[in-house]
Amino acid sequence: MPEITTPRDLFLHELGDILYVERQLAQHTLPSLIDEVSDEEFRSGLESHLDQTRRHVANVEQVFEIFGEEPKVEKCVGFEGLKAEHDQLVEESSSALIDIVDVGAAARTENYEIAAYEGLRRMAKAMGEDEAVDLLDENLKQEKETLREVEKIATRLSNETAKAAA
Ligand SMILES: [Fe+2]
Ligand SMILES: [Fe+2]
Repeated sequence: MPEITTPRDLFLHELGDILYVERQLAQHTLPSLIDEVSDEEFRSGLESHLDQTRRHVANVEQVFEIFGEEPKVEKCVGFEGLKAEHDQLVEESSSALIDIVDVGAAARTENYEIAAYEGLRRMAKAMGEDEAVDLLDENLKQEKETLREVEKIATRLSNETAKAAA
């Protein structure tokens, strides 16, 4: 018998998946990325997104509460894949290219989070859980703003790096 049989089960499973991602980002991934990058604007962007990410964790935990459940993480295989790919690429790349590698990893992660929150808010909306929708929307909005910032920085870094290499 499958263990996920209702839209509510699926919602809670996917909520646990994004909780795993947000906690990993807040506790490990963003702090180590902040240590790794050299570009000032990129680093300060990561620092403010770390603050936002701590809030994302709290919002997701609150959504569990709205559903009358204890927060429960599900190991997110997609995020682990992104992380493994990033770690491998950092190892293979020269130090002048690390910021571009990192900005690419940040963009991939934001896109992953955006897709996850779009799906979750859609399911919560369909179940009539408007309070949960508002909390998920708060996270979604910040992920989208962050992606725009990351893309701006990526363009500048790519141009600067190409110029320096010419
Ligand atoms: Fe987030
Ligand atoms: Fe994010």
